[in-house]
Amino acid sequence: EPGATVKDLADAAGVPPARVVKILFSLGEMKTQNQTLTEEEIELVAEELGVRVELTEAVDLSAPEPEVEDAPEDLIEKPPVVTVMGHVDHGKTSLLDKIRQTEVAAREAGGITQHIGAYQVESGGRKVTFIDTPGHEAFTEMRARGAKITDVVVLVVAADDGVMPQTEEAIEHARAAGVPIVVALNKIDVPNANPDMVMGQLAERGLTPEAWGGDTVTVPVSAKTGEGIEDLIENILIVAELEELKANPNAPASGYVIESQLDPGRGTVATLLLTRGTLHRGDIVLAGTSYGRVRAMMDYTGHRVEEAGPGMPVEILGLQGVPEAGTGFEVVEHERMARARAQQAEAALRRQELAQGGPTRRTLEDLLG
Ligand code: GTP
Ligand code: MG
Repeated sequence: EPGATVKDLADAAGVPPARVVKILFSLGEMKTQNQTLTEEEIELVAEELGVRVELTEAVDLSAPEPEVEDAPEDLIEKPPVVTVMGHVDHGKTSLLDKIRQTEVAAREAGGITQHIGAYQVESGGRKVTFIDTPGHEAFTEMRARGAKITDVVVLVVAADDGVMPQTEEAIEHARAAGVPIVVALNKIDVPNANPDMVMGQLAERGLTPEAWGGDTVTVPVSAKTGEGIEDLIENILIVAELEELKANPNAPASGYVIESQLDPGRGTVATLLLTRGTLHRGDIVLAGTSYGRVRAMMDYTGHRVEEAGPGMPVEILGLQGVPEAGTGFEVVEHERMARARAQQAEAALRRQELAQGGPTRRTLEDLLG
């Protein structure tokens, strides 16, 4: 990872590089403009200049990497996590409804998805975890997070509307996360559907359909009539199979917060997606600045469960604080430890906020670019 140079820091602080060189010299460090600085040097120089720099690494909210590699014999197949993405109103929620044969889209306020939903579907004896994301442009961040926690992206493109800004954005997120894309060419039932036009648009963006000699699985579907849905599920399973998704159920549980909110009666209700290990009722969960003992755990249908394994979304009660969607979580042994680490995260966040309000708005992340 390339570090910030003397010049980067000078630019960020709005001073000539020679000034930084001089300060370093006074600290006993000989550095030229293009040499990189250690974190300690950045902090010392920033202090001397009276500017703050944000150490973004201090607030890493991603799920922990396992400390020890899983032994191959501990690994079992895990349900693929499939995230449905695409432009607003292209039919993501309707498609998921059809897959689940339920009625979520009809119950949403104005039919617009405002949060991430997680569901499981069983097909031919295999479980698949589906995540719904909002297509509204305001939810860029959520789509980016959604892409990160997923094994397969289903890109929903309305056959009458074609590739739109959030379609392109979803393609970018999936690519950045290195996740395979299955295209659902939706609304083929509408009279002005033009699948060929849309396939052309996709090909222009490097997603050439298999039917055209490319390698992007593209399935024409209608969330309204149900046409093509079985074909879509089958193709998702095939793509997921190629990923060889395995996880260790015997490890301490870790994963990501999908969504969370404060319920007046029940306290914090958080949906977690497990990527590794098994979560039990009574475990102590730490998620960024939130922590707590799992008081109750429900599967996506609302049924109480005592434990949950890799690839499974669960709703839990018992957290203090409301962790942001996308925050990594892990299980820790002692509540005292959880509290201490939550407080550390809290303090780091506060420092970061202070830094952002300081004289320079540049962050170390910008510097490391
Ligand atoms: P956001 O969550 O707001 O981004 O929208 P979405 O992509 O989830 O779209 P949603 O499922 O809410 O559907 C938008 C509209 O398109 C609704 O009125 C659906 O009834 C309609 N729709 C979805 N799929 C189809 C389809 O295959 N055919 C037809 N005719 N209408 C559809
Ligand atoms: Mg929706």
